[in-house]
Amino acid sequence: MKAIQYKAFGNSDVIEVVGIPTPEIKNENGVLIKVKAASVNPLDFKIRLGYMQKMRPVQLPYTPGLDVSGIITAIGTEITNFKVGDEVIAVTMGNAYAEFVVANENFVTLKPSNVSFEEATSLAVNLGTAQTILFTEGKLTKGQKVLIQGAAGSVGATMVQLAKNNDLYVIATASGKGVELVKSLGADEVIDYKTQDVSLLVKDVDLVADCAGGDSQAKLFELLKSGGKLLSIAGMPSPELAAKFNVDARFISSDLSAKSLENGLSLVSEGKLKPIVSKTFKLEEAAQAQDFVSGGGVNGKVVLIVG
Ligand SMILES: NC(=O)c1ccc[n+]([C@@H]2O[C@H](COP(=O)([O-])OP(=O)(O)OC[C@H]3O[C@@H](n4cnc5c(N)ncnc54)[C@H](OP(=O)(O)O)[C@@H]3O)[C@@H](O)[C@H]2O)c1
Repeated sequence: MKAIQYKAFGNSDVIEVVGIPTPEIKNENGVLIKVKAASVNPLDFKIRLGYMQKMRPVQLPYTPGLDVSGIITAIGTEITNFKVGDEVIAVTMGNAYAEFVVANENFVTLKPSNVSFEEATSLAVNLGTAQTILFTEGKLTKGQKVLIQGAAGSVGATMVQLAKNNDLYVIATASGKGVELVKSLGADEVIDYKTQDVSLLVKDVDLVADCAGGDSQAKLFELLKSGGKLLSIAGMPSPELAAKFNVDARFISSDLSAKSLENGLSLVSEGKLKPIVSKTFKLEEAAQAQDFVSGGGVNGKVVLIVG
């Protein structure tokens, strides 16, 4: 089958299109998926650059890609929830930029019938991450206030929609054309972080959901009420600032299991939460696709069309 691989860490020119054997189901809980579309996540270029080798090592040669949509072509002996021919979304945490991939059934879920394959793949990491931050870890309830930093990004734009559908009060930061996007998604307040100082405009939020990381994170502590939470998916918060502001500040690894996607996918099926695909590339254009994501200013998910 055709796949994308690299044999060394580095810039996107290490990326090659290769022919490799089609994977086989190695345990009873696996399903083989013919990939229709694969997501391009920021983690993909961070792994390629070698930045994640301490935290999340991979072996070379490596086939990138965390999540796909596609059609099941074979199932393990213990599989009862799926059958050959089912259209699904799956999180594989590797090997997804390829014509076929094997996934564990706990990370496979049926594709909502009202979205395309390219839209469907954009949902997996985004919904699982938003659910983890807002509810599993954030434990927010109706009427509580969340500030979403990086709200026009791929995860952020999904988080805004999940939060509004669950009756949270949403303050969103974005820039450029992202400001209009997050307004259109229903955010209650939108702050252009490039022209306005969020720390002067926002106080007493219950949760800061940091989807941007970097130097901007330190200021976010000031926005929280005492006892609030700063949960980041993009950088380890300072324990010193957490103690100073009396907040629960943590880096969060998302729960991307099928269970974690349930709440969001039911909203998608009802037409209440929309997938946002920023741009599509062919599988063979994986290098350009990763460069497009790492260049920033992308609103929504970048997707590889595979089959
Ligand atoms: N821990 C986990 O489990 C997990 C899961 C998913 C994603 N992630 C990580 O979370 C991050 C977000 O993922 P993504 O797919 O949503 O990436 P993305 O689409 O690139 O979105 C990042 C957003 O952050 C915004 N941003 C950058 N600097 C900012 C600042 N100073 N203030 C406010 N916003 C700022 C960007 O806005 P502009 O367009 O204005 O630059 C962009 O909209 C990535 O680092 C990714 O690797 C982690």
